[in-house]
Amino acid sequence: MVMKVRVGIVGTGNILGAYVAGCRAFGILDIIACADIDQDKAEARAEEFAIPRVCTVEELLADPDIDIVVNLTVPKAHAEVSLAAIGAGKHVHSEKPLAVTRRDGERVVAAAREKGVLLGCAPDTFLGGGQQTCRKVIDDGWIGEPVAAVAFMTGHGPESWHPNPDFFYQVGAGPMLDVGPYYVTALVHLLGPVRRVTGSTRISFPERMATRGPHQGRKIPVEVPTHVAGVLDFVGGPVAAIITSFDIWSANLPRIEVYGSQGSLSVPDPNIFGGRVQVRRSGADEWSEVQLTHSAEVGRGIGVADLAYALATGRQHRANGDLALHVLDIMLGFEEASVRGRHIDIASRCARPAPLPLGLAAGELDP
Ligand SMILES: NC(=O)c1ccc[n+]([C@@H]2O[C@H](COP(=O)([O-])OP(=O)(O)OC[C@H]3O[C@@H](n4cnc5c(N)ncnc54)[C@H](O)[C@@H]3O)[C@@H](O)[C@H]2O)c1
Repeated sequence: MVMKVRVGIVGTGNILGAYVAGCRAFGILDIIACADIDQDKAEARAEEFAIPRVCTVEELLADPDIDIVVNLTVPKAHAEVSLAAIGAGKHVHSEKPLAVTRRDGERVVAAAREKGVLLGCAPDTFLGGGQQTCRKVIDDGWIGEPVAAVAFMTGHGPESWHPNPDFFYQVGAGPMLDVGPYYVTALVHLLGPVRRVTGSTRISFPERMATRGPHQGRKIPVEVPTHVAGVLDFVGGPVAAIITSFDIWSANLPRIEVYGSQGSLSVPDPNIFGGRVQVRRSGADEWSEVQLTHSAEVGRGIGVADLAYALATGRQHRANGDLALHVLDIMLGFEEASVRGRHIDIASRCARPAPLPLGLAAGELDP
């Protein structure tokens, strides 16, 4: 495909490099500009990654040359920046979560629909070889009818590695809204939409300490639950249990497992594009490794490329706003259930995103 879709990036922080590399791996995408509220940072990062143009956010949104705005700002700013970009008539791919409240998530989805622009949202890791192979294992019936699943994301928080860790403990983040999107999106991709959730949450440590980077030694107040234990009832019948936690030093737990009527599937880390897929069918003595059916040699940006193909051909893009809103709805439901002491019905719905076809050439997606 010779068509180029031009990308402007808003937010030039820690994750920028991964996006630049991931987007540049796809011939359809051309990153032409970047912006940040911190103009000096945007200048420095543009030079670091050879991004041709640096501008203010307003200039970037007003630039008629830009087709897609990739929103890599902090979670609290996602809705505001996405709404401004949609208002300027741009297609948008946002980092996760889509927004930090249901209302804002719904506003972003509605605004894109009204304006007739496409809305995409991270994560796009479910388009990597690890998760796509799991999807194929399930769709091809290797484990029979899925009946249950578990998902575990455990750790002791990002302050040990991230240079600006404060936002992870503010409204809009915590282990569920920050890392949960990978796990919940993976579950919805594999098992379909969710009809209700319940859960219990807690803050185990009301204060954290930055242990690296310029803020080392500074105390970080904790605004959001840092341990979330939830249960999801899927529309199609399966029941899943999930834990996302920044309160656990170490654990011997799988990332995700799906249990079917004929066997079990071990799903790799949904925060990466590859990983090890294993199946153990009923009667088998041990787990067998499944060769990946799709490429793991892709990165953050495959979702942006998929949106660009959708623009070019009119087909649906996979990491889309309906999926992201459903995932947000589910994630917010766990704390709501904990506060209210009951199940929360999930009103939003989305379709399972279409699986990627086999045999795609490197740097290309299906038309
Ligand atoms: N760091 C990672 O490993 C990682 C991985 C996957 C996803 N993400 C997601 O990517 C997003 C960004 O994360 P990060 O680690 O790069 O954060 P960061 O704090 O390093 O960078 C965010 C940047 O956005 C800018 N910004 C904030 N509000 C803005 C606004 N209103 N307009 C313009 N610029 C604004 C900040 O100045 C900063 O440069 C988050 O949603 C995060 O969840 C991060």
